[in-house]
Amino acid sequence: MNNRQDNQRSVPGIAHLIAVASNKGGVGKSTISTNLSIALHKIENKVGILDADITGPNIPRMMGITPGSLASEGEELRPVEAHGVQAVSLGLVLPPDTPVVWRGPMIASGLKQMLFDVKWSELDYLVIDLPPGTSDVSMTLAQDVMLSGVVIATTPQEVSLEDARKAVAMFDKLGVPILGLIENMSSEIFGIGGGKNAADELGLDYLGSIPLDKDIRVGSDTGIPIVAKNSDHTVSRTYIEIAQAIHEKCLMIKNETSSFVKRELT
Ligand SMILES: Nc1ncnc2c1ncn2[C@@H]1O[C@H](COP(=O)(O)OP(=O)(O)OP(=O)(O)O)[C@@H](O)[C@H]1O
Ligand SMILES: [Mg+2]
Repeated sequence: MNNRQDNQRSVPGIAHLIAVASNKGGVGKSTISTNLSIALHKIENKVGILDADITGPNIPRMMGITPGSLASEGEELRPVEAHGVQAVSLGLVLPPDTPVVWRGPMIASGLKQMLFDVKWSELDYLVIDLPPGTSDVSMTLAQDVMLSGVVIATTPQEVSLEDARKAVAMFDKLGVPILGLIENMSSEIFGIGGGKNAADELGLDYLGSIPLDKDIRVGSDTGIPIVAKNSDHTVSRTYIEIAQAIHEKCLMIKNETSSFVKRELT
């Protein structure tokens, strides 16, 4: 089904907008977003990261950026660079530990301001870290913004997979392409292989599996994501392979879209 809306906006100067989503909280979306953005940068792309978790922004800590440091030139807000990636988060504007107690409409407009009013430099990719659930942010993004696609994050347990299926159904219904599924925290504790099985069952590309690994957690807590800290780490290599697969997929989507537009015009 394709319900893409005619009024979906792209962001000038940004070639591909990619969201990282799951229905369940705490499965590693923010960790995947940061490491994936750095991996896309390592394979020679210009990359940004947008923290769309407006009420619970984690990107500043995970990227090692001091809260309150969002650069502004006059009225213009500019991203802050960390590990070669341009970052924007409400957590960069607010003093630490300030709760954001916004309701749905304000959250949606906050997201749009971060997308359309920030002075982004030219980017190949903007990775968007979504909050958990099929919230206002996810709906606004899927309906009003021209996404190249969504990466679904899940842990291997059945309860997480159940929620991942719901996220897939929502993006499918809204006509947003799904770039594939990443299994995170694979381990004896949580299981191994549930993500691959779910991807097969749902007809999605399986992008890879990231193990449950202390170095990953330490990277997120200390503001130096594992791919930035050590690009030879096996986990970093997996991230770089995933980034490569996403890059190829996005180029394919772009070619298909431009030949579709050409056909429409002739
Ligand atoms: N593969 C992994 N191995 C070890 N720790 C991990 C891994 N992935 C994520 N973590 C840790 O798990 C915690 C939750 O991860 P994260 O914040 O990225 O999840 P999330 O899906 O973004 O959560 P939320 O839904 O609250 O936004 C963090 O402390 C992170 O460092
Ligand atoms: Mg998060």
